[in-house]
Parts: sequence; C-alpha cells; structure tokens
Amino acid sequence: MASSISVKDISEMGAVKVPSEFILNATELATIVPHNYFSDEQVPVIDLAGLDDNSQGEPTMAAIANACENWGFFQVLNHNILLSLMESAQSVAREFFDLPLEEKQKLALEHNTTPTNGYGRQFRKPKQQHVNSFTNEILNLHFPASCNWIFFSGFELCDRDTMEKYADGVLKLMHQMLEIFSTLLGLWKYLEERFGNPIINTRTNFYPPCPQPHLVLGLAAHSDPNSMTLLFQDDTGGLQVKKGNHWVGVAPLPNALIINVGDEIQVLSNGRFQSVEHRVVTNTSAAHLSLATFFHPNMDAILGPAAELVDASRPACYPFMKYGDYHAAFHAKG
Ligand code: OGA
Ligand code: NI
Repeated sequence: MASSISVKDISEMGAVKVPSEFILNATELATIVPHNYFSDEQVPVIDLAGLDDNSQGEPTMAAIANACENWGFFQVLNHNILLSLMESAQSVAREFFDLPLEEKQKLALEHNTTPTNGYGRQFRKPKQQHVNSFTNEILNLHFPASCNWIFFSGFELCDRDTMEKYADGVLKLMHQMLEIFSTLLGLWKYLEERFGNPIINTRTNFYPPCPQPHLVLGLAAHSDPNSMTLLFQDDTGGLQVKKGNHWVGVAPLPNALIINVGDEIQVLSNGRFQSVEHRVVTNTSAAHLSLATFFHPNMDAILGPAAELVDASRPACYPFMKYGDYHAAFHAKG
C-alpha cells in the first residue's frame, strides 16, 4: 500500500517495470515528451530588475500581463531571493528525502489539517486513470509568515530555520506579484484583500528516477486550486506546461523561480488570467526535486469574479464559492 513502501525504495531495489496500474492510457501516452526536450516555444522569462528601471518598467509589466493571459506561467530573474538560500532549502529537502523510509514516516501526512501536512504522496489514485502519478514523494510544511500558523510537529527532522527563511523570501515575492497582478487587472480592491488571512505552505516534491518514464507521470496533470504558486525546480527538469493542445517543458534556468497563476486568480480575473494545466515527467537517471510554495486564500473566503471585471459585454464566467469547499473538492477528486 501507499504508505508502506516509497517509490524511491522501489527504484533503489532495481525495479525495471512500473506496476501496470500506473501506466497511462493510450491518449495520455501519446502526449509524453521527454524531460530534457525543450521546444523553441518557451514559457516567458522575465527579468524583474526591469521594474526598477524607468525605461523598462512598462515593458516588464506588459510582459507579466502577456504571460498571465497567454501562458499562466512565467520564470523570473532578479527576484531578490538569494541563490544561496534557494540552494540551502533545496539541500534541506534533499537530505530529508534521503532519510530511511521509517524516519520519513515519522512525519506521515496529517490528514486532519487543511491543507494536509507532512510526508507522503500526492495524487496517488491508481484506479482513476486521470490522476495516475507513479513517482513522487512529498513533504508539506506550513509556515507562519504573517498568516495562519498550522502547528507542525516533527520539524526536528529537517532544518526548519532554513525552510522558514526561504518561505519568507518567497512570500515577499508573492506579495509583490499579487500587487502587480491587481494593478494589471485594474482592481480598486487588491487581490490580497479579497483572499482574507491566507495560508502559505511549501511542498517539496521529490521524483526519484523511474525505470519507464515514457509510460507514467511523476505528477499528474492539474491546475493549482490556490491563488498563486511559486516553484523552484532543480536543474534536472521535468515540469511541463500545457500550451494549446501540446506540452511545453520548462527549461531549468539557474537562479530563476517559476510563478504560476492559480484557479482563484483565474476566477477573480473573470478568466483574463489563466490557471494552466501542468504536470511533471520523470527520467531514468536523476532524481528531481522541486519546492512549490502555495498562496491559498483563507478557507472561509468566498470568491468569484471581481465586480470591476464583469459587465454586459463580459458576464461573470464563474459562480461565487467558498475556497475551502473548492479546495476540498479538488483533493477529493485527486
Ligand atoms: C505542484 C506542482 C510541479 C513540480 O506541486 O502543484 O505542480 O515541478 N509541482 O514539482
Ligand atoms: Ni501544480
């Protein structure tokens, strides 16, 4: 069963075949693109130094708007988070995943918290073809960073201080991005005010090497149900973003962070900004690690299209909903 053996252990035992229940259906198999294939068409890369430069401010804002409208994803450079801090957070996460399974299981996911906290698997529902994810292990940590604090026991297994510092830096960048998005959308009441007291969690995703990467996904295709996600992927690569009807690999760039629009910003923007499907593919030789920080609205926040963005020519595309209900439905579905 899911909790008794990790995929990392399976791969270390030298398995050459993935269990059949994880193999994708024929339609999905046809879409698999290797982790190290990058087409000319790339997720936009935006240098945030432009925001502080008189002549570059406007083009930089326009590039962010274009990315949110047409890709839902962009990579940022000069984001003010030190590379050394990013690398330390990455090493802390890697050290955790390298622990023996019994140790990691001391932090087994706490299912009584929202979002769930601890170590385990994401989207592992082998019976439901559309959510198959063979190779991943996750460690989900919540951070206080001026928002709801969900107490997490067992932090002694990883260097909490480094992870908190990293989450703090990420949170600053998220605040800045939410302000920029609000300006770009012409909102008089900024996005953050509508989200209420938010919840921030950083999930480290670990994808061990997989013997048959052309048959499975490391993380099934999904869009993020929260407001905004900030991702730091290592240099192995594996993240792919849907563009039209094909998948585009996000090339690892040293020192870059990846930002993506979540469902709640798509809803608030009345469909102007896109929350786009993405997934992770695996490879045979190298473990892949990513740190994803999620900015969630308060679970009680009731969200729908912003009134400023609804008129006769652009009727509301979505109903109002309590975020907690939406988030629960997302996880129930896998
Ligand atoms: C996620 C996610 C991508 C990655 O955790 O929601 O999309 O590269 N992760 O791990
Ligand atoms: Ni995601």
